[in-house]
Amino acid sequence: MDISKIFENNKEWIQTKLDEDASYFDKLAAGQDPDILYIGCSDSRATAEEIMGLGPGDVFVYRNIANMASNTDLTVMGVINYAVVHLKVKHVVVCGHYGCGGVKAAMQSQDLGILNPYLRNIRDVYRMHKDELNAIIDSNDRYKRLIELNVQEQCINVLKTSDVQLAFKDRGITVHGWVFDLASGKLIDLKIDFATILDEIMEIYHLD
Ligand code: CO
Repeated sequence: MDISKIFENNKEWIQTKLDEDASYFDKLAAGQDPDILYIGCSDSRATAEEIMGLGPGDVFVYRNIANMASNTDLTVMGVINYAVVHLKVKHVVVCGHYGCGGVKAAMQSQDLGILNPYLRNIRDVYRMHKDELNAIIDSNDRYKRLIELNVQEQCINVLKTSDVQLAFKDRGITVHGWVFDLASGKLIDLKIDFATILDEIMEIYHLD
């Protein structure tokens, strides 16, 4: 890719936006009030706004390898805090994608150096759901299921935070687990029953 082409693209994009709405950038510069916090994978194919038909100002986005919301990752925890407490988003979405290289790597025993502790969080998801996963004969189906279970576990990590627990109690924030299917372009709602999960995990993770 020719990097200079990006600046040409940018000029065209500015013109397109101004043609649609002459005050587009004045509004954009005025501030943000997004309804959604989106935690997705850094994979170049799994973009955030574009697949949802949304644009600048609509979504507070955080992406990392395999859409992780690990408990001790200060970056993701900071993002959740800022989006939930200060921006007061109405929805938190964890979106994984089939064909996720991070999840694939966690299913293999290869030593990947600095990525080992990172991927261990995904291996933990496998361990927690070992019986279900090992019962799936087809390795591709098992891989897909781990991707879904990882989304579910990251939703649980989101629900474990005091910020989200309080926002649920005070204003009914919702948490969603989705998977993006690269092969069809479809967004699939895993229909995670976050209210029941929250009820169950409160026994252990409750914070006053
Ligand atoms: Co991925």
